[in-house]
Amino acid sequence: MIDRIEELRAAGAAEVAAATSSEALEQARVRHLGRRAELPNLLRGVAELPPEQRGAVGRAANVARKALETLIERRGGELAASELDAQLARDRVDVTLPGAPALPAGGLHLLTQTQREIEDVFIGMGFNVAEGPEVEHIHYNFDALNHDAAHPARLRSDTFYVADEVVLRTHTSPMQVRAMEQQPPPIFIIVPGRVYRRDSDATHTPQFHQIEGLAVDVDITLADLRGTLLQFARAIFGDERQVRLRPHFFPFTEPSVEVDVSCFNCTDGLLADGSRCPLCKGTSWIEILGAGMVDPNVFGYVREYGYDPERIQGFAFGMGVERIAFLKHGVSDLRLFYDNDLRFLRQF
Ligand code: PHE
Repeated sequence: MIDRIEELRAAGAAEVAAATSSEALEQARVRHLGRRAELPNLLRGVAELPPEQRGAVGRAANVARKALETLIERRGGELAASELDAQLARDRVDVTLPGAPALPAGGLHLLTQTQREIEDVFIGMGFNVAEGPEVEHIHYNFDALNHDAAHPARLRSDTFYVADEVVLRTHTSPMQVRAMEQQPPPIFIIVPGRVYRRDSDATHTPQFHQIEGLAVDVDITLADLRGTLLQFARAIFGDERQVRLRPHFFPFTEPSVEVDVSCFNCTDGLLADGSRCPLCKGTSWIEILGAGMVDPNVFGYVREYGYDPERIQGFAFGMGVERIAFLKHGVSDLRLFYDNDLRFLRQF
């Protein structure tokens, strides 16, 4: 009986030592210490043995069972540790691998595309791109741009005030003055950026984008303005385009003009089916921007930076990016630019 117990212990110990997974170890445990295994049954049967054998057999079986339990526990610990190591090795993240580009890259918003397209045209003509603050002092937004004290754009009903003398800029023109303070002439810049007005309907949003242009040197004329804008109109709306300058008024340019581009949607205001062109409303001209020769009074504000109104001239223009995109792509409602509806955005 004692020999049999030693056999069972040795067989169990060998199997435990040979187990290479927690699962195999558990099977070995069931086989050697489970409810139907020989060793525990032997222990349970000790009471039926002749009294003189009970002590020795019971002790031996108990020692063998304890020995196996200890071996199983130790082996279990080893296996768990090595299985965890294996798992960690398997799951290790190699941070040096290139990232998987899981998401589609998306595209540029039509307004961004349009802004960049316009920038490219002017960069091609030698202009630099400058940007200015959206929260602006009224000195730059109005005063230095020759707006008189009663100009309606100064009203709180038209313009967002941040403080008594600070507004959300209503146009990109304040950068004309800021840029001239920063560098002496000649200066050839365009200024893209957000502007703000208290307006909201199908053709106005409270925030929109403009691109300002400023060219100042000793010999700039209205003809340069016209030529520059003709080049721009042809690059954006097609080689056949013409431009037309109509007299207008802006406080900071003199003379001031509104600039029209010949309609690219019709012939003489009529569509192929003889109906009136909706884009130019039958006039065959489409207004695209405001412009003019920089008013000498504006130079007066930056005279000390090298802008002597007796010596230099310049032109300026300002256009709405939404308006250009709207015209070029036949967008029906300005608010579509800001709704973030993918069905709209994906068309461009
Ligand atoms: N700032 C003017 C506007 O927002 C546009 C403009 C710019 C006009 C430059 C003339 C010269 O309406």
